Amino acid sequence: MVEPHGGKLVNRCFGKEKIEEAEEMESVELDGRESADLELIGYGAYSPLQGFMCRDNYESVLERMRLKDGTVWSIPVTLATDRKDLREGDKIILLTNGKPVGRMKIDEKYRWDKEKEALYVYGTADASHPSVSYTCLRKEFLIGGKVELITISKNFKHFLTPTETRSIIEKKGWKKVVAFQTRNALHRAHEYIQKCALEACDGLMIQPLVGERKKGDIPVDIMLKTYEVAIENYYNKDRVLLCVLPAAMHYAGPREAISHAIIRKNYGATHFIVGRDHAGVGNFYGPYDAQKIFYNFSREELGIEPIFFENAFYCKRCGSMATEKTCPHHESDRVVFSGTMIRETLKSGKDVPREVLRKEVYEILKVHYTGIDKD
Ligand code: ADX
Repeated sequence: MVEPHGGKLVNRCFGKEKIEEAEEMESVELDGRESADLELIGYGAYSPLQGFMCRDNYESVLERMRLKDGTVWSIPVTLATDRKDLREGDKIILLTNGKPVGRMKIDEKYRWDKEKEALYVYGTADASHPSVSYTCLRKEFLIGGKVELITISKNFKHFLTPTETRSIIEKKGWKKVVAFQTRNALHRAHEYIQKCALEACDGLMIQPLVGERKKGDIPVDIMLKTYEVAIENYYNKDRVLLCVLPAAMHYAGPREAISHAIIRKNYGATHFIVGRDHAGVGNFYGPYDAQKIFYNFSREELGIEPIFFENAFYCKRCGSMATEKTCPHHESDRVVFSGTMIRETLKSGKDVPREVLRKEVYEILKVHYTGIDKD
């Protein structure tokens, strides 16, 4: 079994009895991203993090893509507040929608530079980037310190903790497990790269991201339905593990690819798929920037092996999915597509070529985007 990042799976989950103790304490309401982060820290998905970052780790992650001790980490995990009265040493209760979900002792309270963070993490200060606009709206101070997770507030279908996925992987006897990140409905390029990777591994962990996403992204229940129906009809169920990642999407392209890989290692994956424009948005990143970034780190320090794929398309002359690497035919023989193109085409009431979606997936998406349930 692959070692968790930093060597040990973090467990910061505590019993409900802590809530009573907490009644007297000051409280801070978390936004969606922070509340997801708290939970992911709590059950070890963010190992070795034990809490929200203090300034030394925060600056080190921005500038070096490493925690202060050198461990690779590419995206800051922070808690913002505008509470002037909160002091270092204070114990606070963390709320999600007014309900206590965790506790924290404030080790440090510090000011931060939002533009600096945007430039380092997203490579831009352009507010049309969804996470840059989020960053600009966040509060004035960051507070860092270890957290205790009292309750998992979010209820997701296909939810498993890293401890649970690791135990499933162990029972199945899988040695090589390739993880796949997605925030989109399943299309044939996804299926192609998943199955190509699975050919060289023992198991495939499909882990759709179900935390906050930008407006316009497909609703989580529809995304999951496309996976359920495809796995039922086209995958070897003994070789697939479908489980969600309750993290928010950052659209940070290269930096997020590193973060996605490390998190999947914590869930027990040994390999991680990075395709075209992984975690990208608009034209902020080059199509293979999220692959190139991996060359900055050694295999040992990442501890999970990336598997790269070029843009996959359907080739009419090959009669199959392919990439530039495997297909010798002309562009005019190819059906090239992306999640965005599928979404926009279906939304406008037009049909997508049948090669790009499994029939069952097409039916789900057609109903979702047009409300029409028959051709
Ligand atoms: S992402 O934001 O989660 O990366 P998406 O769900 O579309 O978006 O992609 C999931 C994974 O599939 C990513 O690794 C992405 O690079 C890869 N991918 C998506 N479409 C293609 C394609 N046509 N060719 C190659 N890789 C692709």
